[in-house]
Amino acid sequence: MILVLDFGSQYTHLITRKLRELGANAQIFPSNLNPSQIPPQTKGIILSGGPSSVYDHSSPSFNKKLLNLNTPILGICYGHQLIAHLSGAEVKPGKVREYGKKEIKIKKSKLLEGLNPSETVWYSHSDDVTSLPKGFKVTALSGQTIAGFENGHLFGVQFHPEVNHTQNGQKVLKNFIKISSSQNTWNKKDQIQTLINEIKDEVKDENVLIGVSGGVDSLVASALLNKAIQNNLYCVFIDTGLMRKGEASEVAQIYKELNFKHFLSFDASANFFKALKNITDPEQKRKIIGHLFIKTFEKISKLLKKDKKIKFLAQGTIYPDRIESASSSVNAQKIKSHHNLTLPDKLNLKILEPLKDFYKDEVRSLGKKLGLSKSFLERHPFPGPGLGIRILGEITKDRLNILKEADAIYIEQLKKQNLYNSIWQAFAALIPVKTVGVMGDNRTYEYIITLRAVTSDNGMTADWAKIPNLALEKISSRIVNEVRGVNRVVYDITQKPPSTIEYE
Ligand code: XMP
Repeated sequence: MILVLDFGSQYTHLITRKLRELGANAQIFPSNLNPSQIPPQTKGIILSGGPSSVYDHSSPSFNKKLLNLNTPILGICYGHQLIAHLSGAEVKPGKVREYGKKEIKIKKSKLLEGLNPSETVWYSHSDDVTSLPKGFKVTALSGQTIAGFENGHLFGVQFHPEVNHTQNGQKVLKNFIKISSSQNTWNKKDQIQTLINEIKDEVKDENVLIGVSGGVDSLVASALLNKAIQNNLYCVFIDTGLMRKGEASEVAQIYKELNFKHFLSFDASANFFKALKNITDPEQKRKIIGHLFIKTFEKISKLLKKDKKIKFLAQGTIYPDRIESASSSVNAQKIKSHHNLTLPDKLNLKILEPLKDFYKDEVRSLGKKLGLSKSFLERHPFPGPGLGIRILGEITKDRLNILKEADAIYIEQLKKQNLYNSIWQAFAALIPVKTVGVMGDNRTYEYIITLRAVTSDNGMTADWAKIPNLALEKISSRIVNEVRGVNRVVYDITQKPPSTIEYE
């Protein structure tokens, strides 16, 4: 296993994912890990990049005894500067942070084997390593500054091999995997059987409850559990009334097709609707929806727990959910607060998280192997509060119906025109402001529908999708013609930041 120590880089997860893609087990740990906490199966350590300078008083703590371990260690960007600094090299503080592509000169080295004498790499740094102590060998140069070094088991690169802009970055990571003998430690072939065996071993004959939403994570988690303990699994789906058009019945259908023995659907929409009456403040809406969801789930679970003697609560938690909220991310600058709800501790059930070590793309590929259809696995993300945060202002039945219809047309058209899969997230939102229009000979006074479509890697930053004009025209004309109550459609062309993806 390769440990990736997190110094707060936005790329820490990317390093880990890339290593796994190349067949090496990689796990993220906090930067201040002690040598005594190192898992016995560790074969290599990577020190990530990060926003700090080695000269900052507040720079992340690191136990320098780690550098004396007899384990290959690779520093990337901040990690490169840190190894150099702690080894007595000269690191010059930069005045500005430099981003972007650079040409660097490569020398002969174990880590950079197979690279060209001149390589295009991605930089994102401020400090520079300008000279090295005795014993260190320069392996790459950018002008006068040291872009790479090596000294026995210590390696450093100033650039980011994990990002695609570094043309031969994969080769660098592959070489490190080889240097640390970590090949084939992340075995994708037997994963499903291993996970099923682990679930069986842990659960034995007990009953398990899982809340499902129709989203990818809970679907794959429940499909996996279904393979392992079919008769002992109870899936609970709560229809808040704030789902997309037809979604509640689609979810029920897929669970039926997949032969789930106990799929229980609860229509709680009337309660949600009542609780949201007259509420216009976005934060208040989120809170009401979140709390009511938990309360409803708790109530159902308590009844089931008594009746079916449930012992476990399974959740579709995936690796980034777990790591984002763990101490390893204390070094990262907070960009987005956590939206997801955690289900109640009060239930006193043992937690089971079969997907806790996987990234989204890995979860999708597990889902594929479990026979789940592409249309479910490749769905766009959908927020917990659902359409509740896509109707600005008060949620009325009328507005909800208008939005559901408009959104369904939008998504249907994107799929028809083969645009859906190249977009990270697309949806319609309703602006409860009426504007004047004309239909036939009549003057109309109706709502505005705004269309949002973004490209993104993880939702932290996003660009608006450049949907072709003709496709937009078709979507707009279908919405105003087919949805009563709308006479104007607008397309949102703002990036995140400064906007967010959702409207509330
Ligand atoms: P924003 O609007 O913050 O959204 O740019 C980023 C991503 O998070 C999703 N999102 C949520 N997901 N509960 C969720 O489960 C929420 O309250 C929530 N708010 C936003 C949003 O859909 C986008 O994918």
